[in-house]
Amino acid sequence: MHRLDLNRLPRHVSIIMDGNGRWANLRLANRVFGHNEGANSVREVVKCCLELGIPYLTLYAFSKENWQRPESEVTALWHLLRRFLKSEFADLVSRRIRVRHLGDPDDIPMEVLNELRHVVEATADFDRLVLSLAINYGGRQEILRAARKYAGDVLAGRAESDALSQEEFSRYLFTTDLPDPDLIIRTGGEYRVSNFLLWQLAYAELYITATLWPDFREPQFHEALAEFQRRERRFGKTSDQLRTVSFT
Ligand code: IPE
Ligand code: IPE
Ligand code: MG
Repeated sequence: MHRLDLNRLPRHVSIIMDGNGRWANLRLANRVFGHNEGANSVREVVKCCLELGIPYLTLYAFSKENWQRPESEVTALWHLLRRFLKSEFADLVSRRIRVRHLGDPDDIPMEVLNELRHVVEATADFDRLVLSLAINYGGRQEILRAARKYAGDVLAGRAESDALSQEEFSRYLFTTDLPDPDLIIRTGGEYRVSNFLLWQLAYAELYITATLWPDFREPQFHEALAEFQRRERRFGKTSDQLRTVSFT
């Protein structure tokens, strides 16, 4: 904690929570055991964000591509998600956490979708922490959906075809009104993005750790933040330009 500069924390942290299956395999247990333990890491990272005053946290919980897993695992994941939303509901409300859903609602099992909608609606006016859950989410699918919605608005005369800015296009994404992520953490050691926030990650700092998600707790989260603070975010400029203080 002492190593962190509280004035230079990322505003928006997004996490690809990977490695649950391997964590369980190392213990000769079923992969689902790893997913269950991963829920404790979620609770801990949420707690850290509240303590540090990080206002936006986004978690990748189920990708569009995860449907291709064995049916028993997919069923267990939906079961766990539903149980998690139910068990955390009171805590989310009492801590004034706003929950958002990023992803396609269409093929989410009805019991899970109902729980998700309930949490999203009940917390809609809170703003202490915006916790976005990427569930049934895919970055390319999100961009295509936005393009289709935009085309529909053009056809209906609500938008102009030659005046599309980055800001306006961003409003068609699931992440409407969310700032772009400053830091993307991937646990489990894979050097890939796996279809997560493709549009939004343009200038995010990427932090990849071999630590498996169920082992990712407060010390590991603080280390990721410390590494973020060692980075120089240039946004296309030169180092010298960033160091030059302009007197006007
Ligand atoms: C991430 O852990 C959780 C989800 C994708 C839902 P994995 O289940 O992918 O774990 P590994 O990568 O197989 O270890
Ligand atoms: C990414 O993990 C998706 C989530 C964490 C929800 P995966 O384990 O599905 O990613 P790949 O398949 O290794 O790229
Ligand atoms: Mg994985």
